[in-house]
Amino acid sequence: MARTLVAGNWKMNGTSASLPEIEAIAAGVTPEKEGVEALICVPATLLTRAAAAAKGTALMIGAETCHARGSGAHTGDISAPMIADTGASHVIVGHSERRADHGESSEIVAAQAAAALEAGLTPIICIGETAAERDSGKAIEVVTTMLSASLPAGADPSLLVIAYEPVWAIGTGNVATVEAVDEMHTALRARLTDTYGAAAAGIPILYGGSMNPGNAAGLLAVRDVNGGLIGGASLKAADFLAIYAAA
Ligand code: PGA
Repeated sequence: MARTLVAGNWKMNGTSASLPEIEAIAAGVTPEKEGVEALICVPATLLTRAAAAAKGTALMIGAETCHARGSGAHTGDISAPMIADTGASHVIVGHSERRADHGESSEIVAAQAAAALEAGLTPIICIGETAAERDSGKAIEVVTTMLSASLPAGADPSLLVIAYEPVWAIGTGNVATVEAVDEMHTALRARLTDTYGAAAAGIPILYGGSMNPGNAAGLLAVRDVNGGLIGGASLKAADFLAIYAAA
């Protein structure tokens, strides 16, 4: 069985004034809560300080993207070894906002995930369909294809995390139905099993898209949902911790 991961994604939000939220989340995350991990992914400017604030607690800190190369002439980019150097343990790759705003294809995402693994970070590989793709009845086909194309070649499956985030559910309040999430996560698990065999059972598959304290318990109870990737509701410690409690 896959472990459960409750992960926050702060996106382009947060300055020094937000560090007390990290401290409050770290104080509320209990190492005794067996099999449930907590992670907050923060902007690069906060990584070092967030990692310091979470040090010695069960809260883990992650980044929101990384470059596919370890170093070089890529002005403004941040590499996986730089992220690891801050004390962070995870990095999101392939978020739909990165795919849309920065043209990151699944091929690039697979290279970013490989770079993360190389640096000792856990990549959280994001995939999801648009509203038009769902309306056309092609969501399962689109997302399973995206998954296969975004997986780094030759990776150890025990080091991967997948996040299914329907684009139309992100930041909209339009959470996917439990039935749709169940259908998609079952298909994703099957695709991972085709790729990795029995080891696929241990890969956490998170759901993301308007998860909040009110709907988290229902989503997290779905068989192949192993946690959440939470945007808006991760910015306030009380909301994030309520979702963590539901897990
Ligand atoms: P949301 O964002 O929870 O605000 O919908 C989720 C995400 O984009 O990871």
